[in-house]
Amino acid sequence: MTAAHLTASRAGSLTGTVRAPGDKSISHRALILGALAEGVTEIEGLLEGDDVRRTAAAMQAFGAGVERTGEGRWRVEGKGGFAEPADVIDCGNAGTGVRLIMGAAAGFDLAVTFTGDASLRSRPMNRVLRPLGEMGASWTCRSGGRLPLTLKGGGLRRLSYRLPEPSAQVKSAILLAGLNGQGCEVIEPEATRDHTERMLRGFGAEVEVFEEGAGRRIVLRPGQTLKGIRVHVPGDPSSAAFPLVAALITPGSTVTVQGMLLNALRIGLLETLGEMGADLAVTNVRDEGGETVADVTACYSELEGVEVPPERAPAMIDEYPILAVAAAFASGRTVMRGIGEMRVKESDRIALMAAGLSACGVEVEEEPEGLIVTGGAGKVRGGGRVTTHGDHRIAMSHLVLGMASDQPVTVDEPGMIATSFPGFTDLMQGLGAKIASDEPATA
Ligand code: S3P
Repeated sequence: MTAAHLTASRAGSLTGTVRAPGDKSISHRALILGALAEGVTEIEGLLEGDDVRRTAAAMQAFGAGVERTGEGRWRVEGKGGFAEPADVIDCGNAGTGVRLIMGAAAGFDLAVTFTGDASLRSRPMNRVLRPLGEMGASWTCRSGGRLPLTLKGGGLRRLSYRLPEPSAQVKSAILLAGLNGQGCEVIEPEATRDHTERMLRGFGAEVEVFEEGAGRRIVLRPGQTLKGIRVHVPGDPSSAAFPLVAALITPGSTVTVQGMLLNALRIGLLETLGEMGADLAVTNVRDEGGETVADVTACYSELEGVEVPPERAPAMIDEYPILAVAAAFASGRTVMRGIGEMRVKESDRIALMAAGLSACGVEVEEEPEGLIVTGGAGKVRGGGRVTTHGDHRIAMSHLVLGMASDQPVTVDEPGMIATSFPGFTDLMQGLGAKIASDEPATA
């Protein structure tokens, strides 16, 4: 039976050592590149959340052999390309999954229909369709470039494309399309997560990356062949953020997250929390499969509000909801601007964080592309019943808030947490958190 609601209440301090689930971005890419490659890719540490399982099923539908061989261990037998799937590709809640797979599929002479859940069907696909169209792909879709959508690819031209929005998904879709076409060049005025570029190299492709001001130019030459490899997926910093912030705002806490990805384009939250005065220790820094990984320990801290540099947004775009929770417990104002992209995530995250925090007695100002939180200096009323619109990060952020606020906080649709962080409730309870499921669904 799936709970209809989860409620977090204040318990004692949080203590312990945990491992964050596998990085979602790297997990999607490992499966997709494994399927496009020739030969076997062995993956360990794969995130076994719903989003990534959809990508695994999609790769099977495109003809790859995909097998789960143990906990977090997956074996992908790539066929060096995609074959026509026999049915619609349903990516569930996964924006990364659908956009990257559309890019990869566009390289082949296939007609493929994509769909997703209600949230994914409301999200803009035009940002990916525009460059794929310039490369020569065609499609029919619902109004506004929304799913369901049928994409027809093959025979693609080389494209040089300047990203109008900082989006690693769009960059990756173009690179994946260019793989089986005539190559491509992507110019990003602001650097975004670079897992696709790193992993393409790991699979044997020639990818050149040129630093240009605050951004990058990525060049993929035509005629690349990918060969299956072993991939070790590090812990997801976007998931590790929840136990770490929970420790920072709950008096007496010390929590360590082991094996967390420390890619420079993913650590904006750690930088910001450091500026807020967070007691964070990064130890055991090491290289694992081409990515930097470390253990991160957070101890309860009296945080202070800060102004987050807008140019940091791409390095922490998924972490603003939990940063807003940290800000609610800080003293003074935390100003988050240049975050318009948050409005087109799994939900409108600016609107939902503003509504959820207000319902919990926090002073919030919403701007078209910003959020300003005035913290309660360690004291937050809580007591809200929060509508998550099925957004996993909105749910987890408010549950963390409820762990340290005066009154319990309840969120709806907690089942969606499994899209990115299966086992979230158990992991937090293991650290000492009090989370209860109430009002079980009758269906
Ligand atoms: C992701 C890129 C980001 C991020 C998403 C994962 C990726 O999206 O929000 O959760 O794996 O490439 P955008 O590319 O839309 O910024």
